[in-house]
Amino acid sequence: MFKYLKFGNVAPMHHTAHYVDGRLLNEYCFTREGFEEPYSILYLVHPPTGESEQEVYREAAWGMPQARDSAVLQRRHFRTRRMKPQGHFISGRTLLAFNDDLTYGVCHPKKEEAAFFANNDADELFFLAEGTIRFQSLFGKMTLTAGDYLIIPRSCPYRFSFDAPPRLLVVEAKNDISIPDVYVHKEGQLKMDAPYSERSFQVPEWDASLFESEEPVSIIRKRQGVFTRTHYPENFFQMAGWDGYVFPYALNIKNIQPKTGRVHLPPTSHMTFSGGGFAIMSFLPRVLDFDEKAVPCPFYHSSVDCDELLFYHSGDFTSRKTIEPGSISFHPSGIPHGPHPGAYQNSIGLKRTDEQAVMVDTFSPLYLTANSETLEDSDYPKSWQENPS
Ligand SMILES: [Fe+2]
Repeated sequence: MFKYLKFGNVAPMHHTAHYVDGRLLNEYCFTREGFEEPYSILYLVHPPTGESEQEVYREAAWGMPQARDSAVLQRRHFRTRRMKPQGHFISGRTLLAFNDDLTYGVCHPKKEEAAFFANNDADELFFLAEGTIRFQSLFGKMTLTAGDYLIIPRSCPYRFSFDAPPRLLVVEAKNDISIPDVYVHKEGQLKMDAPYSERSFQVPEWDASLFESEEPVSIIRKRQGVFTRTHYPENFFQMAGWDGYVFPYALNIKNIQPKTGRVHLPPTSHMTFSGGGFAIMSFLPRVLDFDEKAVPCPFYHSSVDCDELLFYHSGDFTSRKTIEPGSISFHPSGIPHGPHPGAYQNSIGLKRTDEQAVMVDTFSPLYLTANSETLEDSDYPKSWQENPS
């Protein structure tokens, strides 16, 4: 999405006959925004239209999230680490919140699934909080480790395999997830003052075990919230090569450079990715604000146009009581929030923070799902009181 990749054997000119070992290959263009934006071209052994059978797939139930019954407007806290592993990487997702731009949830799969999944509704962003994942996709393979963001373009088939159940945060973006324009110069290279460079990212490698296999595959696709399982009598992924600008990529949170100011910087200074209707920020270990009177703790604030979801990944969360790794706080727009009692004063003079957290700010209000209720810490709204009753 931010640079050109080329693997295997591709035709010298696009849209021309390409033979390998005397066999005419099937040019498959994978395009975005109609035909106006980035694309990749794959050279498949079999036509991608060769499905043998299709059926509605009912094992995954998160395609059409339902809002929970009306609830009071207040700050909320969800403890996701207490969830038991369930299902697989397609079925085992629990959505917590959604609006017209995105869905937001967690995935803690118990078992592997051989079928591939393609989300035709949305780009997807995963944040791998725990575990190691072997990722395979139409564009190649990657090994993901804790702290990795993974961005998957819409309609790209992929699957996860693992030795131990991983824990993931997952965001579906109805519009593009991309690197913020402000980090990219007019030639397309990442600017020198961006919080990462091209070298910071992991991109797919050629996956001979998939692209050179003749094993038939199944792909489960989601469109308009409905899942369809498609069987192929041959290997959909068998190919000679591909090139282009559309592919999944990963970025480990440790490879992002944090920013520090003389006084506390607003969260937007820590933006990692932009999405249509939302932004994703990474809070990283860093030297804290260095003015002698600086208050390093976040100031009390009301972001009157943003709902805020903050996933606490690791470290010492000094501004919040009762928070643990895997916690998610939800602060709706316009509700004042900030550090817990004592944290504001105690932060003065601190030199460093080691916390790692991922924030999603949405520009349209979120609905909470019924599933979110089961993970909620009902005492959280009282945690700002000096002496909670
Ligand atoms: Fe906030």
